[in-house]
Amino acid sequence: MVLRIIRESSLNAAPSSLTPRDRLVVALDLPTAGEALAMAERLAGRVGMLKVGLELFCAEGPAFVRDLQKQVPVFLDLKLHDIPTTVRRALEAVLKLDPRLINVHTQGGPVMLEAAVEAVRAHRAAGGRTELLAVTVLTSLDREALAALGHAGRPEDLALAYAKLAHRAGCDGVVCSAWEAASIREACGEAFHRLTPGIRPAGAATQDQARVMTPAQALKQGSTWLVVGRPITHAADPAAAAEAIVAEMEA
Ligand code: C5P
Repeated sequence: MVLRIIRESSLNAAPSSLTPRDRLVVALDLPTAGEALAMAERLAGRVGMLKVGLELFCAEGPAFVRDLQKQVPVFLDLKLHDIPTTVRRALEAVLKLDPRLINVHTQGGPVMLEAAVEAVRAHRAAGGRTELLAVTVLTSLDREALAALGHAGRPEDLALAYAKLAHRAGCDGVVCSAWEAASIREACGEAFHRLTPGIRPAGAATQDQARVMTPAQALKQGSTWLVVGRPITHAADPAAAAEAIVAEMEA
């Protein structure tokens, strides 16, 4: 078991050596484990990672994630946000699954971020492969919503400030909009990952995403990983849709 985990840890390549396929993360926003596992089977070998969000994790639990990881590495998008001890303990519990990525909210503050970093580093020291991302500003929050929460100023400025905080606390990267990836890379360095949702292939429907970028644009802006959901999972042929996005990134 330990040997298997150590071998998988070597899959944590430096960002610069990731292939376009490694960079593609598919959001498995599907209602049941059965549908998610069937989609994983169709996408295995074609994408770098699968993203499991709160809905699926709450419905299907840890055993499902274990099964899914037999197909493709998982980004467990739980966006933890609580007092430091609670977040640390929740992470210690969920790190037993050894997801490729896990995340917390930057808004939990520096002490909470440091507690999360400690938990993830202890896991890696024991042979795990998980890296920790911090969510900057949810893209669902516009300037007006932030003002209601007591933040003056532009969401992108707050996202950059939060990214710097996550970087100082020792997180491995952030979840941000591709529109902020370049400024975060400049401020925090290439090795600090930028995982960006809101990606739409050229000509695809934007659905409810407001600030979208194409895969090629997002790469150019410095995204480490690109999260794509419905353009792949709702396609008539998800495997072909994933291949087309990888081809667009390679081009
Ligand atoms: O289907 P679509 O490509 O829009 O899916 C994007 C995924 O990324 C969804 O799971 C969504 O919840 C997630 N996400 C996002 N914007 C954020 C954070 C997460 O779209 N800021």
